[in-house]
Amino acid sequence: MKKILEIQNLTKVYSIGSLFSRSKITAVENVSFYIKPSEIFTLAGESGCGKTTTAKIILGFEEPTSGKILFEDNPISIKKGKRYHFLKKVQAVFQNPFESFNPLLTVDDIFFETIYNYRVTTNKEEAIKLIDEKLKVVGLTFDDIHGRYPSELSGGQLQRASIARSLLIDPSVLITDEPVSMVDASLRMSIVNLFAKLKSQIGLSVIYITHDLATAYYVSDRIAIMFRGNIVEMGPVDEVLIRPKHPYTKLLRESIPEADPQKKWDKEITITDVEYEEYLRQGCKFAGRCPVAMEICKKEVPKEILVDDVLVKCHMYDKNFE
Ligand SMILES: Nc1ncnc2c1ncn2[C@@H]1O[C@H](COP(=O)(O)OP(=O)(O)OP(=O)(O)O)[C@@H](O)[C@H]1O
Ligand SMILES: [Mg+2]
Repeated sequence: MKKILEIQNLTKVYSIGSLFSRSKITAVENVSFYIKPSEIFTLAGESGCGKTTTAKIILGFEEPTSGKILFEDNPISIKKGKRYHFLKKVQAVFQNPFESFNPLLTVDDIFFETIYNYRVTTNKEEAIKLIDEKLKVVGLTFDDIHGRYPSELSGGQLQRASIARSLLIDPSVLITDEPVSMVDASLRMSIVNLFAKLKSQIGLSVIYITHDLATAYYVSDRIAIMFRGNIVEMGPVDEVLIRPKHPYTKLLRESIPEADPQKKWDKEITITDVEYEEYLRQGCKFAGRCPVAMEICKKEVPKEILVDDVLVKCHMYDKNFE
């Protein structure tokens, strides 16, 4: 099986608290997954479970405490700022398109800048042709953005434009962190549909990070459910969301709250008491909320167990404890 991107045992420990009462949380704990060419892979889970941290590490904005990243089976540097070649192949689309574009530049100038920065071409006519071609993929044209500032486009249009911009350098993987939470509910499906189109028409792989299990179900091939830094269940989306195995996935299906549209990537970090307590919990992090928790769950970290096609991190599925 061909893997385009793989992460192995990724761990990120953050120090939190004041100078005098510092403690540590493992925001991402031993996370491993891979993405195949032409595949949509979703990372889902409630706020603060480690989705964005995982994306930041893959994109090189954060260094992991430990772990490996492989691109087309080759290990790549986990150091910040050492990823030029890799970053051409892996592009990001963020939650708030208004923050991804410099408000002082026109959208076409931002596109030209990307083209020149990545040395795609230095010929203006060729650049316009390329921009128009990529914009058409997302349902816009060069004329729609020409001479217009980001504030003159709607959120939906600008999010499409940011997807088109990421396509300028022909990436093979797109990482999108809550790309639809700021877009009008009525337009969400059209953005999500775009990912499906990019996958089938140009063979792009997408890591779709979301709170929204409905769009995740609709568009993904496989899904990983995270809880307090751990992937607790991962497999084909029909299996995981229709026949969830992990008690957390079952609960999540009914109760996942919406993403906070005001949330920023470089937000001030706050952590709730419950979150903190769960991060520090021994054994299974979900045991405190789990309706079917057993004694063992409070003491031992569950193993990752393969049930049919699905990986589940739960003691219930461990034959040794039956
Ligand atoms: N720079 C940092 N310093 C300390 N703690 C951090 C930092 N960044 C994230 N965290 C903590 O790590 C945990 C995971 O955060 P992360 O942003 O990855 O979650 P998320 O799943 O993306 O949440 P959301 O759905 O709200 O965007 C949280 O408890 C968060 O408070
Ligand atoms: Mg996030």
